[in-house]
Amino acid sequence: MTVPTITLNDGHTIPQLGFGVFLVDPQEAERIVSDALEVGYRHIDTAAIYKNEEGVGAAIAKSGIPRDELFITTKLWNDRHQKASAHSAIDESLDKLGLDHVDLYLTHWPTPAKDDYLEAWLALEEIKAAGKARSIGVSNHQVEHLEKLIAGSETVPAVNQIELHPAFAQRELRAFGAEHGIHIESWGPLGQGKYDLFGEQAVSAAAEAHGVTPAQVVIRWHLQNGLIVFPKSNSRERIAQNFDVFGFELTADEIASMDALDSGKRVGSHPNEVN
Ligand SMILES: NC(=O)c1ccc[n+]([C@@H]2O[C@H](COP(=O)([O-])OP(=O)(O)OC[C@H]3O[C@@H](n4cnc5c(N)ncnc54)[C@H](OP(=O)(O)O)[C@@H]3O)[C@@H](O)[C@H]2O)c1
Repeated sequence: MTVPTITLNDGHTIPQLGFGVFLVDPQEAERIVSDALEVGYRHIDTAAIYKNEEGVGAAIAKSGIPRDELFITTKLWNDRHQKASAHSAIDESLDKLGLDHVDLYLTHWPTPAKDDYLEAWLALEEIKAAGKARSIGVSNHQVEHLEKLIAGSETVPAVNQIELHPAFAQRELRAFGAEHGIHIESWGPLGQGKYDLFGEQAVSAAAEAHGVTPAQVVIRWHLQNGLIVFPKSNSRERIAQNFDVFGFELTADEIASMDALDSGKRVGSHPNEVN
């Protein structure tokens, strides 16, 4: 099964489908990430705040998969935005992951009330220059935050990782990203199980038509919309199911009826309120 890649604005490529580990228990992370690597995932999305970087690192080490076949993302937590603190934070993450660089390093939230996200971004530029992150990007940034980074630095973020699923399709941030070369990563791609996305008629009808599950339909919706996506699951069966999404294609009508589910309703926090 070949996962398509996307070329980022710095020339590096990222597998479009990966595996996310938010709320993966640190004690179970090694087993669960090992399952994902065995199934075939090569892109893992973690964060310092998930407290499971050590488990991710242990699974990577055990797998024997060559480093250049893996794509590993981690994120700088909100209380480490000051430059010196950000430099020690990446070293701590690399140590836990057992790596000398990550493929993508993100600032996790802008925390706009503290107004230090530009400083964090300038630290990420230095971290990239030092070879500790091949690509750098942001998460949960709104248009005004992205504009400030673009105006105040030499680097346009390679990605913006934001809450995105059919009911919260983030059209404004996607359009801004397309205009500026910022690829969009969808977090909570399955709606985090917080509302009945799988019960929506547009989703269940497509699942029935293709003989697949609603989750597979939703993952295809992300892929066919050009989004980078990394669903999370603790279950080996669902981990495999979520990777088995390259044997069918949604029609333009099916995509359109899922696009119509956009109600602008978040399941997570508004970035301006996370400080
Ligand atoms: N940057 C940020 O602020 C941010 C925030 C949130 C998430 N993220 C990233 O995005 C990744 C994905 O988002 P997420 O983990 O929040 O939510 P998600 O992937 O939308 O949903 C995960 C939930 O869906 C269930 N699930 C997974 N596959 C399923 C399937 N095939 N059928 C039915 N249920 C299924 C999981 O249950 P089981 O585990 O029981 O299968 C879990 O409860 C995260 O892991 C993390 O890497 C980033």
